[in-house]
Amino acid sequence: MSTSEHPDAPSSLGLEHSPLLRAARGASVPHTPVWFMRQAGRSLPEYRALREGVAMLTACRTPELVTEITLQPVRRHGVDAAILFSDIVVPVQAVGLDIEIAPGVGPVVAQPVRTRADLDRLPELSADMVPDITQAVRALVAELGPVPLIGFAGAPFTLASYLVEGGPSKNHERTKALMHGDPQLWHDLCARLAQISGAFLRVQVEAGASAVQLFDSWAGFLSRRDYLASVEPHSRAVLERLGRNAPDVPRIHFGVGTGELLVDMAQAGADVIGVDYRVGLADAVARTQGRYAVQGNLDPALLFAPWPALAAQVRRIVQEGQAAPGHIFNLGHGVLPETDPDVLTRVVALVHELGSPGHEDHEDHEDHEDHEDHEDHEDQAGHAGS
Ligand code: CP3
Repeated sequence: MSTSEHPDAPSSLGLEHSPLLRAARGASVPHTPVWFMRQAGRSLPEYRALREGVAMLTACRTPELVTEITLQPVRRHGVDAAILFSDIVVPVQAVGLDIEIAPGVGPVVAQPVRTRADLDRLPELSADMVPDITQAVRALVAELGPVPLIGFAGAPFTLASYLVEGGPSKNHERTKALMHGDPQLWHDLCARLAQISGAFLRVQVEAGASAVQLFDSWAGFLSRRDYLASVEPHSRAVLERLGRNAPDVPRIHFGVGTGELLVDMAQAGADVIGVDYRVGLADAVARTQGRYAVQGNLDPALLFAPWPALAAQVRRIVQEGQAAPGHIFNLGHGVLPETDPDVLTRVVALVHELGSPGHEDHEDHEDHEDHEDHEDHEDQAGHAGS
């Protein structure tokens, strides 16, 4: 299946063999593809060096930095996809909202968006407001060759939470107060954010991104009732619009703590459902009736565990993923800043080494680092039945 509108462009060579794109479509793969949310970022010393003295959103709007930072984890870890180095708040800043990302805190909005007048400060996004993103994506796709670039955007609810609260929030109380207290304004705000995120995704896809992920990180804070009534229609608008404009581009839909919403998030227009570590992949597949590829779901905290314990969990997840029509190995949420990057590299190597799902005898024929392999098996045996 073609993944590009320009099949003979040099940059599209080999993308049809991409394990990640194939898994997203439920096709056979030589090995489970793997990438990590927040694979670019503070876990990498080369990232910290480049970011020294450069504000987060400035970095996100500087194509040379975006390109270099996006490539860093691909070079270092050999992951099966790059994800654009950007942030979910980049497009709302691009339309003129006064917002910054405070180190160690997250997005902070100078004047929170809580009234109809505030909504007027949030015009629609057009491609000419983010020429730097087009430039960065084009450069990346040319550099990456057969490795796909994942584009992304924030889902309306998660973005609305930052805008309404004015920053990160534990309880999302002002957001929920607006959702229930002024449903019309809530829907208008989410519709605007759906336009902004949708246009941001489209810019990335038109410049060559070959898969997208919609991050509804905080949707797990909602009841299913509120999700369906107040949030899902807006996420659906983003995903369905993209599906119509770029039917070949797989759509990954991700949230944290969304076990109760998995079916709804899948049906909102996803090809791949992101699963956090709280729900086993086998359960996720059962809940979605095996109709969707799955992405996940190693607990990022386990990257701090001794290697044999970690390796056993990686093996378990690769095994569980075989129940799905396609599995993309990832974490249940982003890489924590203190993570040892060598551990990430080792996880990638292990996932690749485990070979083709469904070919369980494969590993017996592979050249292993004998000593390590031993450790893993011993550890698995030691934990049998737990
Ligand atoms: O995954 C990747 O490697 C791509 C880059 C990426 C970033 N942000 C870079 C970033 C992606 C996909 C995002 C999305 C994002 N941004 C989400 C959804 C994903 C998720 O984590 O749930 C959210 C909620 C945000 C908002 C945001 N931006 C937060 C909560 C933070 C962390 C604040 C902190 O300092 O701990 C950011 C900042 C941010 N975005 C960093 C990076 C690499 C860290 C900034 C730094 O290095 O100084």
